[in-house]
Amino acid sequence: MKRIGILTSGGDAPGMNACIRAAVRTALANDLAVAGIRRGYTGLIAADAVSLDRAAIRNTIHLGGTILETSRNPDFYTREGRLRAAAAIERMGLDGVVLIGGEGTFHGASLLAADADTAALVGVPGSIDNDVYGTDYCVGFDTAANCAVEAIDRIRDTARSHERLFFLEVMGRTAGFLALESGIAGGAEELVIPEEEVSIDRISERIRAGFTTGKKSAIVVVAEGKTPGISFEIAREIGKQLNADPRVVVLGHLQRGGPPTMRDRVLGSLLGVAAVEALLEGRNGCMVGEIGGDLRCTSLEETWQKKKPLDENLLRIFSFLSE
Ligand code: F6P
Repeated sequence: MKRIGILTSGGDAPGMNACIRAAVRTALANDLAVAGIRRGYTGLIAADAVSLDRAAIRNTIHLGGTILETSRNPDFYTREGRLRAAAAIERMGLDGVVLIGGEGTFHGASLLAADADTAALVGVPGSIDNDVYGTDYCVGFDTAANCAVEAIDRIRDTARSHERLFFLEVMGRTAGFLALESGIAGGAEELVIPEEEVSIDRISERIRAGFTTGKKSAIVVVAEGKTPGISFEIAREIGKQLNADPRVVVLGHLQRGGPPTMRDRVLGSLLGVAAVEALLEGRNGCMVGEIGGDLRCTSLEETWQKKKPLDENLLRIFSFLSE
């Protein structure tokens, strides 16, 4: 192995730069040349790459976003697009590619490997949604969850002052990891997550029960699920049942930006090193992740074909800690 590429794809996630930096430093220490592929699969198809040396990754560990930029490219979901990417990989002379992204990125990579005999592909889970099978945490989740916790804390001040009911919508796509963990850490009263059926009656009843025990305000954390903006409808329905005048805050892309937390920098660094070491060991078609404190490799197919479950114990404790 002489030359590898690194790309970030899908939604950017804080800690991706720490991961790029770690992968570059590991590669250079092992005499590998590194190409930084710009704009994810869009740049891969176009062979749009820059050389990554020590200077290129200096002073980047604290930066959010991704210095390589990213994209979601529908062309990569066509065989023609993937064959163009495989040809570009050959033109760029890459023996291996580190792909930092989420489920969609790894789905695309699996299809590429099936279509063409191309460079060795190793993934690193980077997604604020944390919905990638094969790792306890994805790079970026911790920063996004902390952003949501800070939002809950700030909302609590004003909710208490006005004795109000608030709904805070967080990202997460079809998974409730962000909502569940930020809800516990922020002491939210209720949770709406895609993994559970929404019951307006049940949520209203629980909030009403809280009011009868002396609560004067409440915060419901709503995972965006398949319908971003859903919290407005939920707030209207619950507001009607409780005869309340709720307020809705949609956190949106604020959760994706900002400097990565210590945890995301460490996880990004650890997995960036592990990805390049995996390539050097001859691995191909897998994602490096951390499970129970151990580094593990999971096949790229499994990462998007298997559904990562929410932690049952966290769900259990939420139900009575929120009373
Ligand atoms: O996958 C990360 C994520 O931030 C999701 O939580 C969210 O649904 C989506 O990306 C938003 O995508 P976009 O940035 O394309 O609006």
